[in-house]
Amino acid sequence: MGKLDGKVAIVTGAGRGLGRAYARRLAGLGAKIAVTDLNLKSYEEFEAEAKAMTADSTVDEIIAGGGEAMGIEMDVRDEAAVQSMVKQVMARWGRVDILVCNAGGGRGRPIDTKASTIETSLLHLVTEMNYYGTVYCVNAVAPIMKEQRSGKIVTVSSVAGLSPSIDGGYAHYGAAKAAILHYTRYLAQDLGPFGITANCIAPGTITTGRIVASVMPGSANANRDRSEGVALRRLGGVEDCAKVVEFLTTDMSDYVTGQCIAIDGGLLRQA
Ligand SMILES: NC(=O)c1ccc[n+]([C@@H]2O[C@H](COP(=O)([O-])OP(=O)(O)OC[C@H]3O[C@@H](n4cnc5c(N)ncnc54)[C@H](O)[C@@H]3O)[C@@H](O)[C@H]2O)c1
Repeated sequence: MGKLDGKVAIVTGAGRGLGRAYARRLAGLGAKIAVTDLNLKSYEEFEAEAKAMTADSTVDEIIAGGGEAMGIEMDVRDEAAVQSMVKQVMARWGRVDILVCNAGGGRGRPIDTKASTIETSLLHLVTEMNYYGTVYCVNAVAPIMKEQRSGKIVTVSSVAGLSPSIDGGYAHYGAAKAAILHYTRYLAQDLGPFGITANCIAPGTITTGRIVASVMPGSANANRDRSEGVALRRLGGVEDCAKVVEFLTTDMSDYVTGQCIAIDGGLLRQA
């Protein structure tokens, strides 16, 4: 018996990285997983992600492990596509118990995104893929969860959404992630009476393939050892975050809502 036997979970941005780890962990607990992504083979973009794959896609990995999964390609910025994705999940499994709004990320360079000079196209893109995408997904599943009178929603902020960078760079991303966190507090108030919890996680620097390729020592944009300011003196792994998602999507957290858990190893932010 798995803790999530009979449950249905939607994980956005689950083609690689953190989303893939959440999808695989929830599947391991017995949940049926809707793996959604802009590109279900997004892992191909980064060497470390491609190397980590044990099958052709996250869906195939889950099925090979004896789980149940379906893959849906869609853009969380497209509200109609999000609604259609949830309809497909309902048509196949008839319920939605868990939503992990993981799709998102930053774009552009810190120098082009300082708070007073954010390039407008980057502002739109990053706000839409993070904040709007989260709200669209919640809008689509909330009526179902309300009817069920149960559900668990996990949204994804970042340490960048908790405190600013020292030079004000990457403000578009930090502000979008802060919006997600505060929105989640409102969401918890709204959905609490229906027995639905809504919580947020704020990862620090987690060594996904993207991070390994972009900001780790030795890579193109590396400027310092990012584990220096971390109390535990190591960067996080995807399983560090997946464990917290397990807590927030199982009965261990039934009386926890409207909260944000930083998964950052005790980071004191420097930049
Ligand atoms: N890795 C970190 O250090 C870190 C730290 C803090 C927060 N986060 C957040 O965690 C989440 C996952 O991060 P990651 O490092 O695994 O990122 P990633 O870029 O490796 O993976 C993101 C996935 O989301 C998909 N995606 C992107 N935009 C999408 C869209 N509009 N619609 C649907 N899918 C889309 C991508 O195709 C990709 O598969 C993001 O929200 C990110 O902001 C990550």
